[in-house]
Amino acid sequence: MLAVVNTPQASAPVTIEEVAAPSAASNEALVRVQASSVNRGELALLKARPYGWRPGQDVAGIVEEAAADGSGPPVGTRVLGIVEDAGWAQYVSVPTDQIAVLGHTVSFEQAATLPLAGLAALRTLRYGADLLGRRVLITGASGGVGRLQVQLAARRGAEVIAVASPGHAKGLLVSGASAVVSDVREASGLFDLITESVGGTALAAAISRIKPHGVIVIFGASSGEKTPISLYDFLGHENVTIHVFMSYASPHPFGPDLQILADLVAAERLHPHIAHTAAWSDLAPALAALQQRRIHGKVVITID
Ligand SMILES: NC(=O)c1ccc[n+]([C@@H]2O[C@H](COP(=O)([O-])OP(=O)(O)OC[C@H]3O[C@@H](n4cnc5c(N)ncnc54)[C@H](OP(=O)(O)O)[C@@H]3O)[C@@H](O)[C@H]2O)c1
Repeated sequence: MLAVVNTPQASAPVTIEEVAAPSAASNEALVRVQASSVNRGELALLKARPYGWRPGQDVAGIVEEAAADGSGPPVGTRVLGIVEDAGWAQYVSVPTDQIAVLGHTVSFEQAATLPLAGLAALRTLRYGADLLGRRVLITGASGGVGRLQVQLAARRGAEVIAVASPGHAKGLLVSGASAVVSDVREASGLFDLITESVGGTALAAAISRIKPHGVIVIFGASSGEKTPISLYDFLGHENVTIHVFMSYASPHPFGPDLQILADLVAAERLHPHIAHTAAWSDLAPALAALQQRRIHGKVVITID
């Protein structure tokens, strides 16, 4: 079969090569991949991992072979799922507890925006518990995770303030944000929950905007900048809880939450945002544009 392979020293960051087809473990379904998407973390991994590494965590496609242990959906089912890597390929084996069934009204391209970004959006917001009437600040709101967080938090009754660069904010008010600011420091008042994925000055400013007893969830560092923090930054923001979210470190299987996301989209209560669609044979320009912040949101990859 064909798959995208990392080529870090070459002029293009990836190429498509013939590789061995995956052999599924008894608890894995073999999925014929129709679409995937790029997660920001993969941009860093493409540079860090050696030649031959196979990227791709999000998959949407059709079950080619059901899991031998009888778990998971039967052959022919439309699904979405998460894998550790190697998802940008014609076929991938996916643990059945990391799979959800996809309704016929949802395209594979839409579904491909959901797995890692949707899981991060859903699970980071859960740290805010009951969001009804709460004030939620979302940094990186124009991105793949942020656009889903804005919709989910607004749907749960929160007053959502989105942080996005000027020119990247299109659609965020329609998605449920009460206001969009271009810098955390422009957000007025204090917040019950802040989801923070930019780092550097954004995280420092987030501390200055959290209510006493509020919750900050750190789940990304898109700026790559560090944040100096002192105890005194928390004067007026006492008893704050800071959670660090790493999707891979959760004891809870991904499948049930992926099913929630897929069902919300099928019911038209959650709207995936596709910023750019790229054929897998023409990935390099899209990867560069995402890296350089010329694309904001999900880059979907179509696999033929
Ligand atoms: N912990 C986990 O399990 C987990 C899971 C998924 C994602 N993540 C992380 O969460 C973050 C968001 O993921 P994503 O997929 O939504 O990424 P994304 O689509 O690239 O969005 C990131 C957003 O951050 C904003 N940003 C601000 N400063 C930036 C900078 N210096 N460089 C790049 N972007 C900057 C950008 O919005 P503006 O241009 O509008 O400012 C951009 O839309 C990433 O850091 C990712 O690695 C973590």
